[in-house]
Amino acid sequence: MDKDVSGTFSALLQEDRRFPPPPQFAEQANVRDAGVYEEARRDPEGYWAGQAKQVDWFTPYQRVLEWNAPWAKWFVGGTLNAAYNCVDRHLKTWRRNKAAIIWEGEPGEQRVLTYRDLYREVNQAALALRALGVGKGDTVAIYLPMIPEAVVAMLACARLGAPHTVVFGGFSPESLRERINDAKCKVLITADAGYRRGNLVALKANADAALNGETPTLRHVLVVQRVGAKANVTMQAGRDVWWHDAVAPHAGKEIAPEPVDAEHPLYILYTSGTTGRPKGLVHTTGGYLVGTMTTTRAIFDLKDEDVYWCTADVGWVTGHSYIVYGPLANGVTQVMYEGAPDWPDKDRFWALIAKYGITILYTAPTSIRTFMRWGAAYPQRHDLSSLRLLGTVGEPINPEAWIWYRDHIGGGRCPVVDTWWQTETGMIMISPLPGLTTTRPGSATFPFPGVDADILDEQGKPVPLGSGGYLVIKRPWPAMMRSIWGDPDRYVSQYWSKYPGIYLTGDGARRDEDGYFWLLGRVDDVLNVSAHRIGTMELESALVSHPAVAEAAVIGITHEIKGQAPAAFVTLRGDVEPSEALKKELSDHVAKKIGGIARPEKVFFTAELPKTRSAKIMRRLLRDIAEGRVVGDTTTLTDPTVLADIKARYAQEEA
Ligand code: PRX
Repeated sequence: MDKDVSGTFSALLQEDRRFPPPPQFAEQANVRDAGVYEEARRDPEGYWAGQAKQVDWFTPYQRVLEWNAPWAKWFVGGTLNAAYNCVDRHLKTWRRNKAAIIWEGEPGEQRVLTYRDLYREVNQAALALRALGVGKGDTVAIYLPMIPEAVVAMLACARLGAPHTVVFGGFSPESLRERINDAKCKVLITADAGYRRGNLVALKANADAALNGETPTLRHVLVVQRVGAKANVTMQAGRDVWWHDAVAPHAGKEIAPEPVDAEHPLYILYTSGTTGRPKGLVHTTGGYLVGTMTTTRAIFDLKDEDVYWCTADVGWVTGHSYIVYGPLANGVTQVMYEGAPDWPDKDRFWALIAKYGITILYTAPTSIRTFMRWGAAYPQRHDLSSLRLLGTVGEPINPEAWIWYRDHIGGGRCPVVDTWWQTETGMIMISPLPGLTTTRPGSATFPFPGVDADILDEQGKPVPLGSGGYLVIKRPWPAMMRSIWGDPDRYVSQYWSKYPGIYLTGDGARRDEDGYFWLLGRVDDVLNVSAHRIGTMELESALVSHPAVAEAAVIGITHEIKGQAPAAFVTLRGDVEPSEALKKELSDHVAKKIGGIARPEKVFFTAELPKTRSAKIMRRLLRDIAEGRVVGDTTTLTDPTVLADIKARYAQEEA
């Protein structure tokens, strides 16, 4: 196992405070009986079958699970519709006029959509998509800001049985094109522009650049007017249609939700791996809904009276599982905010909490560290007493940030749930249950009921308590990805080959003497920058696509706010002169190729890169240099002098 993470771990373990659930919280919690762990352990399929009762099925399933490792089918033979479960069924209850989404734009406008409003909008949008030729099984790309139409668009696709692929609005035209082509999308849904920190994000212009005659399967672009004249977009006749024009003819009309098989793909979501190309993870309908509904209810203790806010973007899996499907299937009232946390000032989040009486907040450690740096005076300006539960996701949380979150945001009274999961897992896998679990800052605590997590050594043996190894999941779970879109072999080799029949997460973990899980970060070549995954290979291919670059190696360096940040070691082509301007140009180039989140924090020029005799770049050694550690084993290097040279140059540049 990669040794780089051991430093983080010793820092984590220094914090030994324990927080039992506050008695008043425990008394009212959705999950109060610790027997659920044992019940689910004894009969996992029975446990999940019990949870599946929360979902409305059109036809009942015949078997809970069919497992031909690594291929899973959950709720075999059942049919359902995800949009029906998130919207239609609430219309038969008192929730019909309950607020589903309370939206606030960055400039300050508000919109409230009740479940009935959502129903109308989803129907209209589904009819508009159908008129553009979208039917069951067709794929649709969504590239939108955080506006209600993003949720409506996803649900409209689900209503038709058309898998969506949401592309985060911060991604570049090239990344958008790559995803549209890989998923073979027929329609793209975008907006004229979005707001971010008072500026416009030119989504339509990016989409035009992405398409540019190079997306053969794409027929139409549906454009939401978010900004208006200021965005100054050009519409291409025959291809582009305004959303408001497309939905207008369908006002008041309905389209029946398409009954789909439990295993019908609900969406494809691209995520970074260890190769240069992002992979499209496929999530299906029945098991995914069961998994996200169950975890939302149990971990966020969601009640009908709650006002829930997950600050993620719908472009990431957190937005899929814990803004759209899990919460809406549970009939939540949630807040959705379009913009930046520091617009117009650094207290926007806290102003929103006070304004809407938010009770549950789910955000990322990177944001919490930013808020810490800005200072407690910002939250202190506002009444945060409505909050009753806090959650975190996306990366390991350092105990200082955890305690700060608990004290300054949660007023010391709210349980904190540190939730570990991945795009691949679809649902939260390791997390406290807030009414039962004694939490420890920095630990995601225990696997969710029915989740069989373990930590293995290189040979596949469970490590003893107190030691670290590879985090694995030993039994299928309902929201698991089913494959990689168009590349089933990669699904098998990437996740199920190191230990056959066992899911390899790619994360390192340790379990302490009390059985608590402590996540240690990735053990593969994937970075976690501000809770977003970026593969080192993607960054490296972006760098070598620049004419000045001969070769590049990217590593993650520890960053106070972002957790990790990319640092690039670059070998220039023979005739190119190194300069500060070139460093900036290379950073900009990566940001332009992939998106702003991928921008390298540092660029170093080196004469050569350290390689093994089989020509593999030894990033581990570069990390040792960058983190100022004693450089590890170099015996497999072709030329050990390369390292001394890099070290000297690095020290020079850092000084
Ligand atoms: O390394 C783990 C980290 O984020 C990775 C998954 O990233 P992604 O698929 O983008 O999904 C993020 C949102 C679910 C994991 O492999 N990670 C996520 N949550 C935690 C975490 N690391 C430690 N603690 C967490 N709570």
